[in-house]
Amino acid sequence: MKLYEGFVCHPSVCAVGKDYQILVPVNFDMLLSAKIGDREFFNHSNGIRISSSEVQRITVPQKVLDEAKSYTLVARKMVDRKPYFPVTEEAVEITYSFKPLEKTEKINIYQVADAHGVIDESVKAGRYYGEDVDLILLNGDVMDSSSSVEVIEAIFKIASGIGEGHVPCVMSRGNHDLRGICAERLASFMPNYNGKSYYTFRVGCIWGILIDCGEDKPDANNDYGHTICCHQFRLEETEFIKEVIENAKDEYEAPDVKYRLVISHNPFAHTIRPPFDIEQPLFAEWCKLLKENIHPDLMLCGHLHCLSISEDGGPYDQKGQPCITLIGSNVKINDDGTAVYTGMGVTLNDKDAKVVFNSNEEVLGEHTVKFR
Ligand SMILES: [Fe+2]
Repeated sequence: MKLYEGFVCHPSVCAVGKDYQILVPVNFDMLLSAKIGDREFFNHSNGIRISSSEVQRITVPQKVLDEAKSYTLVARKMVDRKPYFPVTEEAVEITYSFKPLEKTEKINIYQVADAHGVIDESVKAGRYYGEDVDLILLNGDVMDSSSSVEVIEAIFKIASGIGEGHVPCVMSRGNHDLRGICAERLASFMPNYNGKSYYTFRVGCIWGILIDCGEDKPDANNDYGHTICCHQFRLEETEFIKEVIENAKDEYEAPDVKYRLVISHNPFAHTIRPPFDIEQPLFAEWCKLLKENIHPDLMLCGHLHCLSISEDGGPYDQKGQPCITLIGSNVKINDDGTAVYTGMGVTLNDKDAKVVFNSNEEVLGEHTVKFR
């Protein structure tokens, strides 16, 4: 559909907790709201509508959008936000249809991870299921860094190219995303739960926990120049995982949950060579907590730039992984500057998942993975 001139790309409807956060990067200051049914939701801070954010965010309850199956974004370009009688242009309304996940099998998930800013090829690979895609997973290092807002926009452009604002998304953070001048503001551009980049989410009958490993080397590594404190962040995340387990009845044991997924850019059960061999006891604790309490069906990862179905105790499992782990992403830049992007499609069925590794050029492999 035609793109409104104020939007950099179509919006991303991101699942966070029991809400969707509708995120859209914008070309100019504007007031943005979403009309859904007879309700209107705003991008605001304690009642003050936000006009200056480079990425606009409107949080809506999943139930409301799932029932309405469409949302209308109302944009008013800000001309002069003076203290009295601010001036805006006339409102422009843009309506998107929305496809909530209502199926309980043959659910098509497409994962793009490690695109490192390669947009067109990632979109082409990511359109593997065409209109039948049910959930888009942007699983970290989708942009090459957070060196500018424009660089960060890659994640939204790829989601837009695959789902065009119609399909639920889940967006996680990769280690490269913590780098650059805009990284400290990343939470304001990305889906988050009260500012946190780790959270649980629902999409139809899927329950997921998004785990964020943060950076991939020790905090004191010279690459970071004192800008990173991920050990502290991970300790806080351990407490979050424990809280989710304490709240199991309202989380993964909720009556309408059929599939339990772990989403993590970094397949943290794998121990990589130094200096990437960080946090071994802490990551082992995460594996144990998830495995023994949540009993996930699948864990979906990227980071290693490989295509693998990691079995328990296999080459990618040194810590007792929570469940069978799908690692699927790669990007290759040719000498002539062209790129090949490889991602992963996962179709959830009753007792198994069909996994496809494909690039923008070809299908590289198809596998069936049985759930435990
Ligand atoms: Fe990575």
